[in-house]
Amino acid sequence: MSERDGTGRRKAIPLRLRRNAVAWERQRPTWRDARPALIAEALERARARPTGNWFVVGAARDLTARRPLGRTVAGTEIVLWRGEDGTPHAGPGACPHLGAPLKDAVVRCGRLICHWHGLGLDGGPFAGWTPWPAHDDGVLLWVRLDSVGGEPPTEGPAVPARPARSASLAAVYTGTGSCEPEDVVANRLDPWHGAWLHPYSFVDLVVRDVPDGAPPDDEKDVLLVDVSFKVAGRIVVPVRAAFHAPDARTVVMRIVEGEGAGSVVETHATPLTPAGAGQPRTAVVEAVVAGSDRRGFAVARALAPLLRPAVRATSGRLWRDDLAYAERRHRLRAEGRFPG
Ligand code: FES
Ligand SMILES: [Fe+2]
Repeated sequence: MSERDGTGRRKAIPLRLRRNAVAWERQRPTWRDARPALIAEALERARARPTGNWFVVGAARDLTARRPLGRTVAGTEIVLWRGEDGTPHAGPGACPHLGAPLKDAVVRCGRLICHWHGLGLDGGPFAGWTPWPAHDDGVLLWVRLDSVGGEPPTEGPAVPARPARSASLAAVYTGTGSCEPEDVVANRLDPWHGAWLHPYSFVDLVVRDVPDGAPPDDEKDVLLVDVSFKVAGRIVVPVRAAFHAPDARTVVMRIVEGEGAGSVVETHATPLTPAGAGQPRTAVVEAVVAGSDRRGFAVARALAPLLRPAVRATSGRLWRDDLAYAERRHRLRAEGRFPG
């Protein structure tokens, strides 16, 4: 959407006043549209899409030059740190000498130095310690675990298209839930719950286009949603958003029309526990990458360190409800009580 009108003047931010606001309980029920079979089929198509064995493990900014990060993916302990040029390194989280937790090691001049007896790692193989491919896409950190993924590996992760970094604001929320990645993906492939479960954020939600029986062609498998984001009281920002699952553990919501067109919310579900665990845990790593060429947005970018916590807090509130949804879905599945 152009940010200027026909005379080249900047348009006002398209805040709208909801004149005919309906009470929450009077909005149109969406349960007939949100057919369990429809969501299940969209989930199956998503789960069939390859990941190249890449797992999102957190926010790029959480990995500093000074300290390593410890992560667990599907029960596999991982350590990450940055080399001298900032390149991320990753590998098993246990020291090859006597098993010290390398997340507590020290980084000096790009080398990871174990704090038990001083063994140093430069990111290359050493004494039985074999690195895993790692990638920093500027917003998120990824690690490739071929033994966990079990798919044909790819050189790098398929990072969703995002607004240009120079004109965008990125914030990353991380949460964990007692469920499997598919429960998180299923929640995101049910946009019909938006205005019911999250009335504090979304109103007037209409799912416009459903790829019922869509071909496996990735790009066409998109749910189109018209929704208004609540700003305050009856003031809203209407947008059109497209939901798409580019791989088995990722759902991307892209604003395709309205304020901030091109902005994305990427939800990545990363298993913390091994497949088949009785009590599964899954991390949700959600990147909000918001872009706009409005003058005010440049100010927002400059204030990014202040605004990021606010964006994360919004994601956090939504995910409190969405993780409860995902956990409930998992519990019912585990007990054989899931409908559909
Ligand atoms: S356990 Fe790491 S150097 Fe000994
Ligand atoms: Fe939700």
